[in-house]
Amino acid sequence: MVSISKVAVLGGTGNLGPSIVNELVSAGFTVTGVTREASTNSTPKFPDGLAVKKVDFNSFDSLKSAFDGQDAVVSVVGTLGVPGQRIAVDAAVAAGVKRFIPSEFGINTRKVRGTSIGKILAGKIAVVDYLQEVAKSHPDFTWTGLSTGLFFDWGLKFSGLGIINLKEKKATVVDSGNEKFQASTLAHIGKAVAGILKHPEETANKYLSTASFNLSQNELIAIVEELVGQKFPVTHQKSGDLQKAGEEKLAAGDFRAFVDFLRAHNNADGAGNELKKEDSANELIKVPYEDLRAAVESWLKEEGAL
Ligand SMILES: NC(=O)c1ccc[n+]([C@@H]2O[C@H](COP(=O)([O-])OP(=O)(O)OC[C@H]3O[C@@H](n4cnc5c(N)ncnc54)[C@H](OP(=O)(O)O)[C@@H]3O)[C@@H](O)[C@H]2O)c1
Repeated sequence: MVSISKVAVLGGTGNLGPSIVNELVSAGFTVTGVTREASTNSTPKFPDGLAVKKVDFNSFDSLKSAFDGQDAVVSVVGTLGVPGQRIAVDAAVAAGVKRFIPSEFGINTRKVRGTSIGKILAGKIAVVDYLQEVAKSHPDFTWTGLSTGLFFDWGLKFSGLGIINLKEKKATVVDSGNEKFQASTLAHIGKAVAGILKHPEETANKYLSTASFNLSQNELIAIVEELVGQKFPVTHQKSGDLQKAGEEKLAAGDFRAFVDFLRAHNNADGAGNELKKEDSANELIKVPYEDLRAAVESWLKEEGAL
């Protein structure tokens, strides 16, 4: 029976990383934060007393020495660090690490190979392909991928998820606004990672999906309007126009195309990218769904709108 207690977290200092570190610590894992020598933002974001190791992310030896003695490596590196995870995988195998969780944490990249958004996510797809290959020849080494959908609380704070303009009390809706999409709070994602590592046998060599909830643009707007007590005038966009704008940007080498593709991916009528119950790992890894209204209310309170 495999058991995991020591966990190294790569890139734990960014937008998502601190929630993963905190939830792993709360769940009783012994966590080591692994941060780049070149990092300017590491120590202040780690909880007091957390073991921290500095590495050269491009050096196998440096990563291997940071991973020696660890049972699992969770990578939460940002986009620029995604391709470099191959060296981290090699170093983890050499250090005898039993489980590697790559930096996925978004749409299910297993389902978009060859599509426009899949072209932008090619680095992530290649790392999961590599993990599959490596695990075949190293039976003691396993991996788990985790799709989470949109970062709900972070995305609301960052951009109103591209739906709510809280300052101007207006909204933007793609297509009918009724299509449901997958979303997770940062705390939920941290709990899901802990849940994977607490259930190592059931989650070995699998690409899993989790969510706090599924929601539609119209549901979000209705909750905001009800809580704020005001109607938000809506501007409509067509998913086909977003897709076309994205293609034009991508052809010009402009990776901001991702946002256009993502909005179409989540919100186009008939897109079918909500997390269906039968595809959800929530039960397997023992993480509960969350209450959508409470999550929106908490954001509005944080923004001083309630
Ligand atoms: N689903 C969503 O809505 C959503 C939203 C945002 C992000 N994501 C995904 O979530 C994951 C984490 O994203 P994030 O926004 O938390 O990342 P981030 O804040 O951009 O970066 C996370 C950490 O990665 C490390 N890092 C940065 N550049 C690196 C490089 N070139 N090489 C190696 N490490 C590097 C840094 O840690 P140190 O300085 O400590 O080394 C940084 O603090 C990614 O897979 C991203 O695509 C999903």
